[in-house]
Amino acid sequence: MKIAVIGTGYVGLVTGTCFAETGNNVTCVDIDESKVKSLQAGKITIYEPGLDVIFDRNIKQDRLHFTTDLAEGIKGAKVIFLALPTPPGEDGSADLKYVLGVAEDLGPILEDYAVIVDKSTVPVGTAEKVRDRIAVNAKVEFDVVSNPEFLREGVAVDDFMKPDRVVIGTTSSRARKIMETLYAPLVRQGNPILFMDERSAELTKYAANSFLATKITFMNEIANMCELLGADVDAVRKGVGTDTRIGKRFLFAGIGYGGSCFPKDVQALAKSAQQVDYDFSILKSVMEVNERQKTKLIPRMKEYFGGDLSGKTIAIWGLAFKPYTDDIREAPALYNINQLLEAGARVKAYDPEAMENVKKVIGDKIEYSDDAYEAVKDADALFIATEWPVFRTPDFDKVSEYLNNKVIFDGRNLYSLEEMKDLGFTYFSIGREN
Ligand code: UGA
Repeated sequence: MKIAVIGTGYVGLVTGTCFAETGNNVTCVDIDESKVKSLQAGKITIYEPGLDVIFDRNIKQDRLHFTTDLAEGIKGAKVIFLALPTPPGEDGSADLKYVLGVAEDLGPILEDYAVIVDKSTVPVGTAEKVRDRIAVNAKVEFDVVSNPEFLREGVAVDDFMKPDRVVIGTTSSRARKIMETLYAPLVRQGNPILFMDERSAELTKYAANSFLATKITFMNEIANMCELLGADVDAVRKGVGTDTRIGKRFLFAGIGYGGSCFPKDVQALAKSAQQVDYDFSILKSVMEVNERQKTKLIPRMKEYFGGDLSGKTIAIWGLAFKPYTDDIREAPALYNINQLLEAGARVKAYDPEAMENVKKVIGDKIEYSDDAYEAVKDADALFIATEWPVFRTPDFDKVSEYLNNKVIFDGRNLYSLEEMKDLGFTYFSIGREN
C-alpha cells in the first residue's frame, strides 16, 4: 500500500519506518529542510534503539522516502498519517495549529479517495475539525480516522510492531477495511484492533496516559506515606502489584514522571474537563503531587549538609527523563539541577545519551563528565535521577574512593538498603527507611 506520513518527529518517523518494514511504500513529509536532507542521506534524526536497523533496510529496499513537498509526498497515498506536534498552548490545552494547517493544505491537493489519520495526541473533537478543514477545498471523497499511538520512547519499535492493541476511531466501513489491511501484519498474535467512534478513540489516548500517570503518582504518595510510617514501598509494590486487577507495571515510586507525554496529556485532559465544566479533581492532584515529588530529595540533601548546599559539588547520574532515550523534556533531573544551582551548589553530570541535549538548554552552568566515575570524582554527594542500567551495579569501591562523602541520594531506588548499609553508604531513597 502507498502511504504518506506528515511530520517526521518521533511518532512520524517510527510510524513511517515500521510501516515500510511491513512492506508498504512510505513517503514521509516534513517542512524542516535540513531534517529531510539528513533523512534522505540515510541519516536517522532521532535516537531510538532498533529503529536505525529498520530505517537502513527500508531505505535500501526503496520503500522509505522523504520530501518537503506535501503534494508530491501524498501522491497516490491511500492512507495519510498526520503525526504533527500538538504542543500545550498558554492555557495548557493542546495547540492544533499544525494539525489543522496541514488539513487545510491537504484539501485542494487530494487527487483520489484517501484515509486521513490523526496519529497525534489530540483533544476530543479534533477529527471533526480536521474533516471540516479538508472539506473546504476538497474535490474528492475522503475519511478522517483517529488512530492514537501508544509508543513508549526507548521501546517504540517493539511497541509499534507488537502492540497490545490498536485503537481506531471511525464509523466509515471503507476506511475501516483499509486500516484493517494496514495493521494486519501487526496483530497476528491475536492482539486486537479495537474499532470505535472517533471521539472515544481520541479520549482513549488521554485516558490511558492519565491513568498511567495517576498509577505512578498514587505509588509516589504511598512511598511518601511509607517514609512517615516506617514501611518499605518496594514490599508494598510487590504486595499490591501481584493482584492481577492492579498489575505489576508502572508502580515504581521515584522522583516523578516526566517526558513529552504524561505531563502534557494530563494537563490537556484537565483543561478539556474544565472546558466542559467538569471538576476532574483527581487529575489536579496528580499534577500537584508530581510537581512536589520531582525535587523531594533536595530538602533531605540540604538537611544532610547542615542546611547549606553552597559550595558543595553534587554528582548527578542520569539526565534523560527515563533510560534509553536522549529526551530531556520535563526530566526530573533538570528540576533538581535548577534547585541545586539556585542553592549555590556545583553540579557534575553524566548521562549515556542526553548530555548534548542538556548542553543546548543549560550550557556550561553545569559540568559534563565522560563517564559515571568521572562525575563522582571529588563530589560531595551522588544524586541519581535516571535508572540507566549502567548505574545499577556500579563499582562501589571506586564510587567510595572518589566521593568526598559516602552519601547517595537515589531518586529511582536502584540499590538495596542492605547493600548500602554493608558498603557503609549513607543512603537516601524514595519510600524506604533512610
Ligand atoms: C508514554 C506512554 O507510556 C506511552 O504509551 C505513550 O504512547 C507515550 O507516553 C505518548 O503519549 O507518546 P513515554 O513518555 O515514552 O510513554 O514514557 P513511559 O515509559 O511511559 O514513562 C513516563 C514517565 O513515567 C517516565 O518519567 C518514567 O520514569 C516514569 N515512570 C514510569 C515512573 O516514575 N514509574 C513507573 O513505574 C513507570
